[in-house]
Amino acid sequence: MTEHSVDDLAAFPAGFVWGAATSAYQIEGGARDGGRQPSIWDTFCHTPGKVANGDTGDVACDHYHRWREDVALMREFGITAYRFSIAWPRVVPRGDGEVNRPGLDFYDRLVDALLEADITPYPTLYHWDLPQALQDLGGWPSRDTAERFGEYAAVVAGALGDRVRDWATLNEPLCSAWIGHLEGRMAPGLTDMTAAVHASYHLHLGHGRAVAAIRAAVPDARVGIVNNLSPCEPATDREADRAAAVRADGHGNRWWLDPLHGRGYPQDMIELYGAEPPVGPGDLAAIAAPLDWLGLNYYFRSVVADDPTGPPPHARQVYLPGVPRTAMDWEVSPGGLETLLMRLTEEYGARRILVTENGAAYPDTVDPDGQVDDPERAAYLAAHLAACARAVRRGAPLGGYFAWSLLDNFEWAYGYEKRFGLVHVDYATQKRTIKASGRHYAELISAHHRRAQRVLR
Ligand code: IFM
Repeated sequence: MTEHSVDDLAAFPAGFVWGAATSAYQIEGGARDGGRQPSIWDTFCHTPGKVANGDTGDVACDHYHRWREDVALMREFGITAYRFSIAWPRVVPRGDGEVNRPGLDFYDRLVDALLEADITPYPTLYHWDLPQALQDLGGWPSRDTAERFGEYAAVVAGALGDRVRDWATLNEPLCSAWIGHLEGRMAPGLTDMTAAVHASYHLHLGHGRAVAAIRAAVPDARVGIVNNLSPCEPATDREADRAAAVRADGHGNRWWLDPLHGRGYPQDMIELYGAEPPVGPGDLAAIAAPLDWLGLNYYFRSVVADDPTGPPPHARQVYLPGVPRTAMDWEVSPGGLETLLMRLTEEYGARRILVTENGAAYPDTVDPDGQVDDPERAAYLAAHLAACARAVRRGAPLGGYFAWSLLDNFEWAYGYEKRFGLVHVDYATQKRTIKASGRHYAELISAHHRRAQRVLR
């Protein structure tokens, strides 16, 4: 990483959490092993035309069988924390019934190995892999799914809570609700506004149930939720574009933050959607249960223009000329991360924030000498860490940073085409190669440790 980011290390406190993140369906494979049953992503991937190249997560990075090797890699990086997700269809394969002991055992062993390697486990309970059996009963648009999620959370917290303190309930509920139920580009592939609003609501309610279940099982737990947010800016100064940016902000940010902070759902968005969240007695208080931290997944800024005939929120993404973009076509905009960290601090009163994902896809290749040189990713990470440092200096209570992702992996509807890893994965052989950006990240972590030790002496 550049000298510039090394200077920024001074901003991060001694106990700063340096991590990397993954999720179950994206890396585990072993789709039919150990009693796992299909999730909505298995179904989606095996439906022709839904995922690029017909790719599936059946094998992915084969982490289910190679987890020891992957923990050794983490150790090589010197990360102090690992954010992974627990596959609901491994642990409670049919969603609302029997617990599958072999599924739990997999995470039990992983947690032990992480602790032995001095890496703090940060499990996320739900990263989009709803058991298909629950989808068949109505999925997230149904209230029952929220209750089942609470029960599943109790099972996992009961099994791992003697060793795990740091818990995330949901990963990016926006994607589950809006992309999965409104845009149809992710599982379960629906395009129904009312279903999407109800899904968003039951995801929040499930989060509330899970917070209560974790706290009941693990008295000293530190519980958070992970949202993906983007600052929304108008493409021009036109009134219509400025209004579009307010709507995009409502759709992408306020809808996901306000209810967690006891502010209910934004009225302007309820009117725009023409659908009400099905609020029951006591629900809003459960959804707003106090949290120990907020997880922020940040990738890009949204620049939008008014789009009256487009789908809600009637705001069209605009690509400004001259702004660098990643292989996902996402703007590289580190300033957006600083903006969001300050917004969570000032507008939402966050007491602890973790950047739970940040990273970039580029078309990496392995050189003839076996190296993967990826200067764009190294620069991306450095610029975003510099943005974190600026926010910390302005008072943001940022406690940690998790790079997305530890490994190249299954990038949902894009299949294996997009590589986000610090480690390159050759999917034919499962060979792992640490990329140059990964080595830079490891150096930066070790420089921060050395610095922290000097300061403490
Ligand atoms: O790969 C995803 C991850 O599952 C959730 N956050 C964004 C990443 C990159 O698209």
